[in-house]
Amino acid sequence: MKIISVSSFKGGTAKTSTALHLAAALVKFHKRKVLLIDFDSQANLTTGLGYDPDEFDSLASVLQGEKKIEELILSTSMKNLQIIPADTWLERIEVTGTLAADRYSHERLRDLLKPLNYDAIIIDTPPSLCWLTESTLIASNYSLVCATPEFYSIKGLQRLGLFMNSIKERHGISLLGVLLSFWNPRGKSNDAFLQIIEKTFPGKLLETKIRRDITISEASVHGKSIFEIAPTSRAAQDYRLLSEEIFHKI
Ligand SMILES: Nc1ncnc2c1ncn2[C@@H]1O[C@H](COP(=O)(O)OP(=O)(O)OP(=O)(O)O)[C@@H](O)[C@H]1O
Ligand SMILES: [Mg+2]
Repeated sequence: MKIISVSSFKGGTAKTSTALHLAAALVKFHKRKVLLIDFDSQANLTTGLGYDPDEFDSLASVLQGEKKIEELILSTSMKNLQIIPADTWLERIEVTGTLAADRYSHERLRDLLKPLNYDAIIIDTPPSLCWLTESTLIASNYSLVCATPEFYSIKGLQRLGLFMNSIKERHGISLLGVLLSFWNPRGKSNDAFLQIIEKTFPGKLLETKIRRDITISEASVHGKSIFEIAPTSRAAQDYRLLSEEIFHKI
């Protein structure tokens, strides 16, 4: 079982879209059984798969010892794709209940996921370096870092790089790669962005780039992956290629 975190310290870098469509592609084209975990109190991944976050429990209830993890798993329109939803209780979970007094609370997620049986677990994280993101990185074998071709997004990678190195020393996570979304193949500053990424994460920029495509926001309205609503779209092509690149790396 491979556990992959999808993260960046910045908002709007396509983390949630990438978690969803990468997972769907691994199920559809590589016949894997995948669990998605929405670990962001915004619950966009949960909503994006057609669930109302107010109606279901999140991992918060398991982390606080109130429920078993198996009780939270929901099905999706794809047979081998399941999700553990998010809710607003995740927001300040680390200062609540039993976690507040636990020095090792960051390691709880890792231990909770161990007994599960999937080919891959993909965890969507919030756009900040909070307890949720740190716990996710500690629980993961691999981290996929999302960025957009904008100056602030690329600069933010440098902070993330330092932070990931400090976790790597203690927990052995490996960087799967840096993924650029909202990519414009003719962007004027492309070379400059690619150079900064190469300097920050040498050799880690993924070959696949996800181009801008409106079908990604349309898919979330339908609560499905792009492979179901727009299988011939640019985004479907790009995410299929991404799944192949990642499949070979893990
Ligand atoms: N390649 C793309 N082309 C066009 N729109 C996209 C693309 N990828 C994502 N989007 C849209 O951009 C918005 C932000 O994407 P998404 O929610 O995946 O980012 P995020 O990094 O998870 O954001 P947050 O930091 O708030 O969690 C969404 O409305 C999504 O539908
Ligand atoms: Mg998100």
